[in-house]
Amino acid sequence: MTDGWEESAVAWIAEMGDRGDFSREFVLDTPMLARATRRPYRAALDVGCGEGRFCRMLRANGIPTVGLDPTRELIARAAERDPGGDYRVGVAEAIEAPDAAFDLVVSYLSLIDIPDLDAALAEMVRVLAPGGTLLIANLNGFATAAVGGGWTRTPLGGRIFKIDHYLEERAEWAAWRGIRVQNRHRPLSRYLRALLERGLILRHFDEPAPSGGDAAKADRYRRVPLFLVMEWEKPR
Ligand SMILES: C[S@@+](CC[C@H](N)C(=O)[O-])C[C@H]1O[C@@H](n2cnc3c(N)ncnc32)[C@H](O)[C@@H]1O
Repeated sequence: MTDGWEESAVAWIAEMGDRGDFSREFVLDTPMLARATRRPYRAALDVGCGEGRFCRMLRANGIPTVGLDPTRELIARAAERDPGGDYRVGVAEAIEAPDAAFDLVVSYLSLIDIPDLDAALAEMVRVLAPGGTLLIANLNGFATAAVGGGWTRTPLGGRIFKIDHYLEERAEWAAWRGIRVQNRHRPLSRYLRALLERGLILRHFDEPAPSGGDAAKADRYRRVPLFLVMEWEKPR
């Protein structure tokens, strides 16, 4: 059984459009790009780059970038949209690149899609140069523990967001607008331990709020711990 990404590629490309979905356009792109452009990085790797939107943003800011993703149709679309770019089919758990090849490694909402977190982080750290940055945007473990999509009506007509079995790591199918993919729920401590065990140093942590976009949607995004952005440094 696959994780659904090949089957969902066409719908995913449509969902991203030119500017990405709400979470990207109004929540994550701005802080992620701000972190990526704080220093003059010379070589970036975007692990799980999808159809390449963030690679294009990095390249537009002068950062030479390799995009890596196992979903062939997404990589084909990324290459088509950015003919001068470097897009490769491959998995995070076995990155075909020499040690210390990049000074910026990005995982933009891809950790929840990667089956073997420990192997993937080991590889991301291996290809990172000493002093380099691992920049992560992820769905918060609080949000991935959602029950039935999370939002539910209360008897008085309000809405609450339900989570359960928070400490139990698990794979779950998520489906929306023609996309059906397998995600992994892991508690926040699982990610933090795995990153700390690799000797990385946390340099930045944020839970970005939406800025702009549909007001009612932005309000829902403010009510729930949906996203986090972290920047980790590989010691010299
Ligand atoms: C939610 S999408 C994010 C794509 C892109 N980073 C973005 O923000 O638009 C998750 C991506 O992870 C990729 N993926 C799934 N398994 C992977 C793995 N083992 N290694 C690397 N990427 C993987 C999928 O193909 C998909 O493109």
